[in-house]
Amino acid sequence: MEDKIKVIIYGLGVIGGNIAKAILEKKGIEITGVIDIDPQKVGKDMGEILGLPEKTGVIVSNNSKEVFENSSAIAVIHTTSSYLPQVFEQIKECIEARRNVISTCEELSFPYKRHTELADKIDTLARNYGVTVVGTGINPGYLMDTLPLVLTAPCLDVKSIKVTRMMNSAKRRIPFQKKVGTGLTPEEFRKCIEEKRITGHVGLLESINMIASGLGWELDETKELPPEPVIAEKEIETPLCKVEPGKVLGLKSIAFAKMNGKEVISLNFIAHAGVEEEYDEIIIEGNPNIHQKILGGVHGDIGTVAVTINTIPKVINASPGLFTMKDLPVPSATPMDMRVYIKK
Ligand SMILES: NC(=O)c1ccc[n+]([C@@H]2O[C@H](COP(=O)([O-])OP(=O)(O)OC[C@H]3O[C@@H](n4cnc5c(N)ncnc54)[C@H](OP(=O)(O)O)[C@@H]3O)[C@@H](O)[C@H]2O)c1
Repeated sequence: MEDKIKVIIYGLGVIGGNIAKAILEKKGIEITGVIDIDPQKVGKDMGEILGLPEKTGVIVSNNSKEVFENSSAIAVIHTTSSYLPQVFEQIKECIEARRNVISTCEELSFPYKRHTELADKIDTLARNYGVTVVGTGINPGYLMDTLPLVLTAPCLDVKSIKVTRMMNSAKRRIPFQKKVGTGLTPEEFRKCIEEKRITGHVGLLESINMIASGLGWELDETKELPPEPVIAEKEIETPLCKVEPGKVLGLKSIAFAKMNGKEVISLNFIAHAGVEEEYDEIIIEGNPNIHQKILGGVHGDIGTVAVTINTIPKVINASPGLFTMKDLPVPSATPMDMRVYIKK
C-alpha cells in the first residue's frame, strides 16, 4: 500500500515552484518527477531551482515520456500556461500516462463554452483512462466562481451576482506584474494587449460560465470588455520597476452576463500597484440578499498554491472525467499530513 501521495510537477515556474516548496513542507506527499522546458532548469536538481539549501534528488527533465515512465505518481500538478489549445497536448499526455491532473490553466477551469470540442476530448480521454482532470487556482477556480456559488447555498432565489476583486499587483509574482502591464505607456499597454504580448487577467468568462452553470442559468449574452490601463498620478516603486506618472500601474477588467435582457452577473477585476484597500467582495441580490467582503483580499499567489494543493485529494478520490471546482466536494484546506486522504 502506498504511504504517500506521489505527484509530478509539470512546469516549474513561479507557481509550480511555490507549489513544490509547499509540498516539500508537507508530510504524506512526495514529488517524484519534474517536467520543464526552460534550458536554465533542465538537468538541475529541483532543490537548486527552488533555492533550497539541500538537493532533493529530483532532476528537472524536458522529457515528459521518461518522467512518466520512471515515476509512480498518481497525479500531475500542471502549471505551464493559461490557454487550453496550448496545453491540450500536455494534458492529453498526462491522461494517457494514467495520471490525474490538477492544472492552473485558466481556460481549463470551465472549458465547455470557449473550447467545447477540447473539453469533450479531455472528458472522453479522462473517462477512458480512468483519471480525473480539473482546472483550478485562486481565480478562476475559487474567488470569482466557486466561492460566489457556495455563498448562494442559503438563497431561495438569486437575481444577480456582482464580484469585485481589488488587489495591489505589486505584491504579486513578477510574471503577474508583467501581465497586467506594469510600467508600460498606455499606448504600449494597448498594443501589447492587442498583440497578446501581455494577457491581462485570463478567466473572467470561465468564471461567469461556471456560476451560470452552477445556478442552472441559460445566459443570453456574455461579454468581456478589453482591459483598461490604470495610470499612475505619482511615481510608484514596484518590485518590477519604477512607474513614472503617466505610465501604467496595472489594469481593470470587466465582464458581465445577461439573462432575459437583464444583467445578472458582473465581475470586476482590478489589479494595479498602489492599491491601498485590497478586498474581495461578493454581492448577491436574492432571497435573502448576501454581502460578503474579505477585508485585505486573498493573496493571489499563496491562494493559487493552496487551492491547487488542497484540490489534490478531491481529485485523486473523484470518479474519472473532466471536472470543474463546482463538481468536486466543497473546497477546503488540507492538514499538513496528507496521508489521511490515502484510501486504505
Ligand atoms: N487559475 C489561477 O488562479 C492561476 C493563478 C496563478 C497562475 N495561473 C497560471 O498558471 C500558469 C503558471 O504561472 P507562472 O506564473 O508559474 O508562470 P511561469 O513562471 O511562466 O511558469 C511556467 C513554467 O512552465 C514552463 N513551460 C512552458 N511550457 C512548457 C511545456 N510545454 N512543457 C514544460 N514546461 C513548460 C515554463 O518554461 P519557459 O519559461 O521556458 O517557458 C516555465 O518554467 C500561468 O498560465 C498562469 O497564468 C493561474
